[in-house]
Amino acid sequence: TLSLAAFAATAAYADETLIVGFSQIGSESGWRAAETKVAKSEAEKRGIDLKISDAQQKQENQIKAIRAFAAQGVSAIFIAPVVATGWDSVLREVKDTNIPVFLLDRDIETSDKSLYVAAVTSDTVLEGRMIGDYLTKLTNGKCAIVELQGTVGSSPAINRKKGFEEAIASHPDMKIIRSQSGDFTRSGGKQVMESFIKAENGGKSICAVYAHNDDMAIGAIQAIKEAGLKPGKDILVVSIDGVPDIFKAMAAGEANGTVELSPNMAGPAYDALIALKKSGTTPPKWIQTPSTLFTPDTAEAEYQKRKDLY
Ligand code: AHR
Repeated sequence: TLSLAAFAATAAYADETLIVGFSQIGSESGWRAAETKVAKSEAEKRGIDLKISDAQQKQENQIKAIRAFAAQGVSAIFIAPVVATGWDSVLREVKDTNIPVFLLDRDIETSDKSLYVAAVTSDTVLEGRMIGDYLTKLTNGKCAIVELQGTVGSSPAINRKKGFEEAIASHPDMKIIRSQSGDFTRSGGKQVMESFIKAENGGKSICAVYAHNDDMAIGAIQAIKEAGLKPGKDILVVSIDGVPDIFKAMAAGEANGTVELSPNMAGPAYDALIALKKSGTTPPKWIQTPSTLFTPDTAEAEYQKRKDLY
């Protein structure tokens, strides 16, 4: 039986339908589309009213959406921050309204961590390190690498570069010979890879491409094929995300490895929000999602598991 106080708390909570305003970056990648889809289905499971605002990759649109959500008096604001800096002033405004803020999949740089309740992210430095270690083993520590970076100024681009560089640092023959942003998109990855291939002897001086996400890797695979080379063999392909298309490419022998990033960022944030509202439980500042390396040997089976989920 419930005590009167517990019953009152439960009843008060039950009365309130949680409304979450989610400022999403856009739909630059397959992973991003999956994250949005999962955010919707996880909200439905919990009876949460989810309002999504698509920022079309622009921080200014995110700031506008955040202000609009705050003005509407939503129960919480979720933000996938496109870049790491420039959030303090809008988050201070939100803090004054007492609306809790959760960060999803990307981090921000701030000196005031009280501006958000929790960040649900993977360890993006670790992802870079894991794929860097794997490529080092695959090439016996000797490889001329071209790097396709994510969106300039975004936390995963900064950290995936850092982690990868850490992994290869003690191997003098592992070298990044070219590095440029492909903005986390398939078309960006293809275009930048084409220019790398042109600049590097028709691709013949490239041992591997490291892409900060799978979509850019898939764009790079197309560029490699169009240059008359074999992706996965003539030029090795490693990346991060674990979307179905990269498993397909691995199963076809055209990609060599990926580190999976869970698309379920919203689920843990909803649970933390519910616990906060229901019983005042403060979640840990960092809710870390797992990072798992996948290689071609299991790619077909892993593709089958994921193909209908996305
Ligand atoms: O923030 C996560 C990254 O954003 C994903 O790795 C990438 O695909 C997306 O665009």
